[in-house]
Amino acid sequence: MCHAKKVHLFGGIFIITCFIVSFNFYWPRRYQVTGWRSPPMCGGRAPDDTITPLKDRRSFIISAYEDNRNKNIIRILGIVHHKEVKELYCYFCCHSNVEVHTTKAEIDLHQDRFGFPYGLADIICTEPPDCGATFVSVHSSPSEIVHNLTSFPIRNREPVQFTANFTICISTMHGNYSNVLQFIQTIEMYKILGAQKVMVYLNNCSRQMEEVLQYYTKEGTVEVIPWHIQRYLKMSNSWLYPNDDTEIGYYGQMSTLNDCIYRNMYSSKFVVLNDQDEIILPFKHRTWDNMMESLQRENPDVGIFLFENHIFPQTAVSDGNFTNTSSWNGVPGFNLLQFIHREPDRPDHFNARKMIVDPRAVVQTSVHSTLKQYRNSKYVPLETALVYHCRGPLQAKLSRAALIEDKTIWRYNDSLIQNVNQMLTKFTEEPSLNP
Ligand SMILES: *[C@@H]1O[C@H](CO)[C@@H](O)[C@H](O)[C@H]1NC(C)=O
Ligand SMILES: *[C@@H]1O[C@H](CO)[C@@H](O)[C@H](O)[C@H]1NC(C)=O
Ligand SMILES: *[C@@H]1O[C@H](CO)[C@@H](O)[C@H](O)[C@H]1NC(C)=O
Ligand SMILES: *[C@@H]1O[C@H](CO)[C@@H](O)[C@H](O)[C@H]1NC(C)=O
Ligand SMILES: *[C@@H]1O[C@H](CO)[C@@H](O)[C@H](O)[C@H]1NC(C)=O
Ligand SMILES: *[C@@H]1O[C@H](CO)[C@@H](O)[C@H](O)[C@H]1NC(C)=O
Ligand SMILES: *[C@@H]1O[C@H](CO)[C@@H](O)[C@H](O)[C@H]1NC(C)=O
Repeated sequence: MCHAKKVHLFGGIFIITCFIVSFNFYWPRRYQVTGWRSPPMCGGRAPDDTITPLKDRRSFIISAYEDNRNKNIIRILGIVHHKEVKELYCYFCCHSNVEVHTTKAEIDLHQDRFGFPYGLADIICTEPPDCGATFVSVHSSPSEIVHNLTSFPIRNREPVQFTANFTICISTMHGNYSNVLQFIQTIEMYKILGAQKVMVYLNNCSRQMEEVLQYYTKEGTVEVIPWHIQRYLKMSNSWLYPNDDTEIGYYGQMSTLNDCIYRNMYSSKFVVLNDQDEIILPFKHRTWDNMMESLQRENPDVGIFLFENHIFPQTAVSDGNFTNTSSWNGVPGFNLLQFIHREPDRPDHFNARKMIVDPRAVVQTSVHSTLKQYRNSKYVPLETALVYHCRGPLQAKLSRAALIEDKTIWRYNDSLIQNVNQMLTKFTEEPSLNP
């Protein structure tokens, strides 16, 4: 009964765990209404991964957030089976952790599940009045012993000051990702455009890419969040359910995007939702700060700005004849300065958009639009900006002449070349990164 194999029991020591178990054995349980007296420090163990499976193996908790924008609730982001998870309960340790209160959760499944059996849900609980919990646990029945559960810290309890104007949320870097040069250029472009922070939900990347992520983490630009979704669920490479034995779509992308919005809700003025091969490039302004200031002035009721995605195929190579880029030759990956041709839109296709949002205006988000929000959305016209998406072609049969020349990325050549060169110099000097 007494197990102390986990090192991080919150404040509790395993002797207390033994006491609770035996205590509960003799006394009737009174969880629901008045709560239940327990020794101090009633919390369970800390999560040991970004994703925590519950005992039923049908629910997987990511993180818990206070959300007092509409009414005061605790919003827990979790991946659940859409049919099999009917009831979940929140366990709060109240009044300096001496009392456990259990409340039934409302389960709000996000609508964009695309047919997969598992999808993201908001697990919403109301904290008992004056409880002052710092942690919350979740279980499928209300009668578990709280020490047996994982305790999730309740984030966003104290609104903080902005530490970033723009935070980029990169949903799942995966598949031995090794496009190092393009990634470095992309991070440097984000910084030139006005970003202070890039969140990377990391599923898998090459060794060298890992070192680059370490470099940027040390610099303070990147925050890596481990995202090993396939440890828990059979993951599909497709966003649409192929009707096979997979359980969740496209690396659980929806979960990472929503989690990223909540993580940065009060620390970042804006959150940019795009992939690592995408950069929102302004035409009329030089930086995102100027562009967003102007967009917000013109659209005071808008909190969600959607930008047209345009494919710059990695098959249409141009020579910019830029000097001072010789140090890039040894770095694996594509060189953005060589891609200045984009595919035309196809009228009969879905032409995707990516977003810059005020995170405080968003309740639930999908990839190309939000699902629930407090403020309006606005399509930003192509004259203002586009999403520069450098990847393999979608229309491989188009000739070069059928592509549209677009040299917007070249406007940044001076600062981009200089910053990438500085990064590469520091990176190769960093002894710990080059064994
Ligand atoms: C709590 O965990 C212990 C040890 O794993 C187990 O023996 C006990 O049955 C659990 N209690 C409940 C109510 O599930
Ligand atoms: C945000 O941008 C403004 C200028 O637009 C700048 O003065 C400020 O330092 C930036 N904030 C952060 C946290 O970098
Ligand atoms: C990525 O996956 C490959 C192949 O499965 C594996 O060898 C490698 O260790 C993984 N890298 C990381 C960072 O998980
Ligand atoms: C990952 O990518 C790197 C660089 O392209 C390559 O050397 C390595 O063999 C790849 N690893 C796997 C497991 O595919
Ligand atoms: C490339 O630039 C150099 C000077 O920077 C110039 O002498 C040369 O003619 C250019 N080549 C092409 C093909 O534009
Ligand atoms: C190339 O870089 C060096 C220093 O790194 C700098 O002095 C020089 O002005 C740069 N040349 C050009 C054409 O940008
Ligand atoms: C490179 O950037 C400078 C301004 O920084 C600009 O004058 C020049 O035209 C750009 N080069 C190209 C080829 O666009």
